[in-house]
Amino acid sequence: MGFLVIVNNYRLVKSMNEKEIKNIVKESLALTLKTEGLVKESTVKPAKAVIKEAVILSSKPFVLKTESQSNTTKENHFQLYKSYVESFNKISSKLDTVDKISDPTNTNDSEFRRLKQDEQHNLNGAKLHELYFDNISDLASNIGMDSVPFMRLSRDWGSFENWQFDFRACGLAAREGWAILYWEPFKQRYLNCFVEKHSEGVPVGGIPVLVVDTWHHAWFRDYPSTEGKINFLHACMREINWNVVEARMQIAEQSNVHQIFLVKPVANPNTETQRGDIRISNVAPIDKSQVTDRIQVGK
Ligand SMILES: [Fe+2]
Repeated sequence: MGFLVIVNNYRLVKSMNEKEIKNIVKESLALTLKTEGLVKESTVKPAKAVIKEAVILSSKPFVLKTESQSNTTKENHFQLYKSYVESFNKISSKLDTVDKISDPTNTNDSEFRRLKQDEQHNLNGAKLHELYFDNISDLASNIGMDSVPFMRLSRDWGSFENWQFDFRACGLAAREGWAILYWEPFKQRYLNCFVEKHSEGVPVGGIPVLVVDTWHHAWFRDYPSTEGKINFLHACMREINWNVVEARMQIAEQSNVHQIFLVKPVANPNTETQRGDIRISNVAPIDKSQVTDRIQVGK
C-alpha cells in the first residue's frame, strides 16, 4: 500500500516539510482507497481549455507637423484612430466568450461572424492609421536619387515620375480607403494598390511601405472643392517621409515572406532586363502650385 510504504520510510518523511508530508499522505490515502475499491473514480471531467483571444492594443501619440491639414482635421483623425484601438480591444475580449459551435453555422445571423469582421476592420484601421501618421507630414521631405526608395520605384515603374502617377491614381480610385505602396513578395517587386474601407482588396502577403489615407474624413474639411481629393493627395505626396519608407523597404526585402508561397513566379527575361536597367529621371515631386483650394489653417 502506498500509504504504508511512505509511513514506514521514517528517514524520508523526516526530511520533508509539513506540506510535502500532507500531500504525499493525501495522494497515498486516495490510492489506497481506490485500490481497495472503497471509492469510485470521479466522474467530474476537467474543464476544457479556453482559448484566450483577448489582445490589448494601446494607441500611440502622433504629432503631425504639416500645415496642409487643419488642427481640427488632425484632432478628429487622432480620435478616430483611438476609437479603432478601443473597439478592437472590446471585440477581442468578446471573442473569448462567444459561441463558436452553433452560432457560426447560421451565416445570415452570426454574432461570431460579426465580431470576426469587426475585429479585422478595427485592427486594420489601427494599423493603417499608424503607418499613415508615421510616413507623412515631413516638412523637409526629400528623396535622393541614390536612395533605396528612388532606385526601387524607378526600377519597378521605369521612372520615379511613373510611380507618382500610378500611386496618385490608386488614391483617386479608392472610394473610402487607402492608397498603399507595398512590397509584393510573390513578384519580388513593389506595387501600388488601393484598399476599400480597411480590408477590401488587401494584398495577401504584401508588406506596406507607404500608406496614404484617402477616406473623406482625411481631406474633405480642408479641401472642399471638386478638385479637393487630388489636391490633398498632392499635398501628402510632397510631404512623404522617405526615411521611414526606406527603413520599411529594407525590412520588407529582408523578410523572405515569399518563401511561404508554394507557387514561384516565372522569370520573364525581358522584364528582368528592364528591371535591372534602372532609369533615373530627375523629375521633381508633384508641384506645390497644383494645390489651389487648401484652406489656410486658422481661417
Ligand atoms: Fe483615417
